[in-house]
Amino acid sequence: MTDTMQEIDALETRLMAEIAATGDEDAIEAVRIAAIGKKGSVSEMMKSLGKMDADERQIMGPALNGLKTRITDAVAERKSELHKKAVDRRLATEKVDVTLPVRPSPAEAGKIHPISQVMDELTAIFADMGFTVAEGPDVETDYYNFTALNFPDGHPAREMHDTFFFNADENGERKVLRTHTSPVQIRTMEAQEPPIRIIIPGKTYRQDSDPTHTPMFHQLEGLVVDKTANLANLKWTLEEFCKAFFEVPSLNMRFRPSYFPFTEPSLEVDIQCDRSKPGEVRFGEGNDWMEILGCGMVNPNVLRAGGLDPDVYQGFAWGIGIDRIAMLKYGMPDLRAFFDADVRWLKHYGFRPIDMPTLFAGLS
Ligand code: DAH
Repeated sequence: MTDTMQEIDALETRLMAEIAATGDEDAIEAVRIAAIGKKGSVSEMMKSLGKMDADERQIMGPALNGLKTRITDAVAERKSELHKKAVDRRLATEKVDVTLPVRPSPAEAGKIHPISQVMDELTAIFADMGFTVAEGPDVETDYYNFTALNFPDGHPAREMHDTFFFNADENGERKVLRTHTSPVQIRTMEAQEPPIRIIIPGKTYRQDSDPTHTPMFHQLEGLVVDKTANLANLKWTLEEFCKAFFEVPSLNMRFRPSYFPFTEPSLEVDIQCDRSKPGEVRFGEGNDWMEILGCGMVNPNVLRAGGLDPDVYQGFAWGIGIDRIAMLKYGMPDLRAFFDADVRWLKHYGFRPIDMPTLFAGLS
C-alpha cells in the first residue's frame, strides 16, 4: 500500500511538473489527455481501485480522488493562463492602426471623364425642366445632316461644316459622320407627336484640329416644339440652364442676331464673364462676354421636313459645344488632352464615380 502511495506521490510530482512546463493550449490539452483522459495515467490508477479489498480501497480511494481533483484543477488553471497568453499574443500581433489612411476602394481608383461628367450634369439640369434625352446615329445621311435641316444642295453653309464623307455606296449615296446633333431634331419630329421637349447629347465630327478643336467633339442639342413655344421661353430656358450649369445665382446673357439654316430668327448667345485675371475665367461677373451657343426659332422648312405643319406648330432649338463648356467650367486649357487617354490627365481632371451630379446634392 505504501508502494502505491509513493507511486501516487511520484505521479503527482511528475504531472505537476509537466503541467507547469506546458507552453501553449495544445500542450496542456495533451497533458490533460495523458493524465485524466480515458486512458490517462491517473484514470488507469483509478481503475485499479476495483481490484482492491475494502480496507485498501478506503485509503486509496480518497487518495486517488484527491490526486485526480488536484490534477484537474491544476490543468484548468494552466489552461486558462495559456488561453489568456494566447489572446494577448493575438491582440499584440493583429493590432489595427486606426490612424492609417484608408486604402482606396476600386471604385475610388477609377475616374469619370469630364465629358461624361458634364453630360450627366446637363442631363440632370434639363431633366429637372421636363426634357427627355434623344439619340441618333453618328453615321448620318446627307438628307438628315443637311437637306432636312434646310441646307439646300450647294448651299455655302454645307462647306462650313468641314464634313467627313464616306465613299459612295452602291446607290451612289455618300453617308457622312454627322457634323452636328441637329439631325436628331428631324428624326424625333418624325417619330413623335408634339409636344416635344428633348435634349440630344452626342458625338459630332468635323475635319478640324487645334487646341480648341478636335475631329470628334460633343454637342448638346435642345428642341422644344408645341403650339406656343416662343423666344421668351427660349431665353428663360437658356438663362436657367446657364445659371445651373455654371453654379452662379445670376448671370447676364447677350443675344446677338446670327444665321443658321435651320432657325429663323437665329441668335448667338454670349455670357457675362471676367477674364481680367490671366488664365482664369469667372462667370456671372465682369465686363467681358464669351460666346457659348447658337439658337433660334425652328425654321418652318425644318418643321415641314419633320412632318409637322408650321401653321400649327412652332418651336425653338439650340446647340452647344459640350467640350467647350467643360473646358470653361473646369479650367482645362487644351481640348486635345480630352481624347489622349492619358491616365495622369484623367486622374487629375476626372470625377469620383460615386458622386453622381444631381440638382439637390450639387452638380460638381
Ligand atoms: N448645329 C449648330 C452647329 O453645329 C448648332 C446649333 C445652332 C444648333 C443653333 C441649333 C441651333 O439647334 O438652333 O453649329
